[in-house]
Amino acid sequence: MKLIVCENYGEMSEKGAKIIAELLKAKPNCILGLATGSTPVGMYEELVKMNKAGEITFKDVTTYNLDEYYPLAPDHDQSYRYFMNHNLFNHVDIDKSRTHVPNGLAGDPAAEGEAYDKAIENAGYTDLQVLGVGQNGHIGFNEPEEELYVGTHLTALTENTIEANARFFASKDDVPTRAITMGMGSIMKARTILVLAGGKNKHFVVSKMLDDRITAFVPATLLKLHKDVILICDKAAYEG
Ligand code: F6R
Repeated sequence: MKLIVCENYGEMSEKGAKIIAELLKAKPNCILGLATGSTPVGMYEELVKMNKAGEITFKDVTTYNLDEYYPLAPDHDQSYRYFMNHNLFNHVDIDKSRTHVPNGLAGDPAAEGEAYDKAIENAGYTDLQVLGVGQNGHIGFNEPEEELYVGTHLTALTENTIEANARFFASKDDVPTRAITMGMGSIMKARTILVLAGGKNKHFVVSKMLDDRITAFVPATLLKLHKDVILICDKAAYEG
């Protein structure tokens, strides 16, 4: 795992955006796996700036997001589809028909998961997967558990995740308790994985990612089995 420790969030966002920009220049029709949450917002802002300045283009890029709350309509202002449109897609020259987020209203979530993985496989898997990490070590919404799923699936969110995400909703009771998430399979098949972790409350998971053990109870530790992971964190997450 390649570790980059930054002074602050701004530097993390710039470093992350630079890695994605280099990929876009080298492979304009690349497949990106994207994440939501607070952490990548600054990086998306940097990418929007570079796109507006004509330094990079998303014209031929395809994207697959990690997850979506369930059940939640794509036009709900807390849906991850809405998040992606408002933080990135609406501001760059991407063809929206090439952007994919699991359907939070799927009548048959198991079939939705299977089709989502098949689409990623048919696209040749992602060139780069962006990940944030939960305070409890989740990636996507693969929550700490004895057994993790390989495929995209419907999952229950842990109390810790619901509490952490309540800040985006009117109250904790409004946070959906389930989500459709990419499983470990599509994540681990990405050619490169770019993990962003900022702030003291991510210190636990960052320290677990940097020791020499793996456990499904901290799903981010499984990334140690992947041969091309870049972890960008700030000093607060690194030092605690
Ligand atoms: C988001 C996702 C989650 C977040 C994680 C960290 O698509 O899959 O795993 O990356 O919950 O969220 P923030 O960045 O808000 O701390």
